[in-house]
Amino acid sequence: MANPLIIAVAQRKGGVGKTTLAVCLAGELDRRTGGVGLIDADSQASACQWAQPGNLSFPVYELDTDSRPIADWVQMVRRIPHEILVIDCAPNDRALGAVLAIADIVLLPCMPSGLDIEATARTLGIVRRVRGSRRLSLRALIVPNRVDRRTLEGVQLTEELETLGEELAPAIGSRSAFVRAFAAGKSVHDVARGSPADVEIRGLADIVVRSFNLTSKVAEPQRP
Ligand SMILES: Nc1ncnc2c1ncn2[C@@H]1O[C@H](COP(=O)(O)OP(=O)(O)OP(=O)(O)O)[C@@H](O)[C@H]1O
Ligand SMILES: [Mg+2]
Repeated sequence: MANPLIIAVAQRKGGVGKTTLAVCLAGELDRRTGGVGLIDADSQASACQWAQPGNLSFPVYELDTDSRPIADWVQMVRRIPHEILVIDCAPNDRALGAVLAIADIVLLPCMPSGLDIEATARTLGIVRRVRGSRRLSLRALIVPNRVDRRTLEGVQLTEELETLGEELAPAIGSRSAFVRAFAAGKSVHDVARGSPADVEIRGLADIVVRSFNLTSKVAEPQRP
């Protein structure tokens, strides 16, 4: 398929929610378009484990960036036939360079910790370097993750991320539904329809759908 939309979920630091957001966003976009494939580019293969019970509506491809030359990896990605590819990236600079070379948009999850904010700033440094060497544009969307917006910590995270000079998505809360979704091998919409986690993932999908004018098969109800 010519030129799929490529959505990378990436971050130099581990454990920030890349796999969680990649799988649940892929599930939501697939629900709307029916055209999503997810590439597990991390040799830890967490997204593949999520898919193991066979309950996800979209295919997950195990294609890590560690065990092959990057040029081969890019060629293999190019042969995967979907309208939308979501890539769950490994937390290292090599993987980051590979996915940023081909992504249309990169989502950068960031949890409320100084280490995560520092890692986000460094990751954005790499994003900006890649932008300088690319013909096509590369959007970046910082996604505050596991945030309690009512706490000072949550408010401070948003304020600090705003200073990084890139688009900021609405925060995703700390939600047990994501943990249950992984345990059930399902997307969060399928384990907890209408829950705050589901609503937050739908909000993230809305941003992607609007940004890239994706046509949706599912009419989304207007939310306040
Ligand atoms: N919004 C959230 N609410 C509750 N738990 C979350 C949330 N986001 C992630 N988690 C949990 O945090 C842990 C790390 O998440 P995840 O595996 O998605 O991170 P990652 O960035 O992919 O990690 P790695 O770099 O190791 O691949 C998991 O146990 C996951 O269930
Ligand atoms: Mg992961």
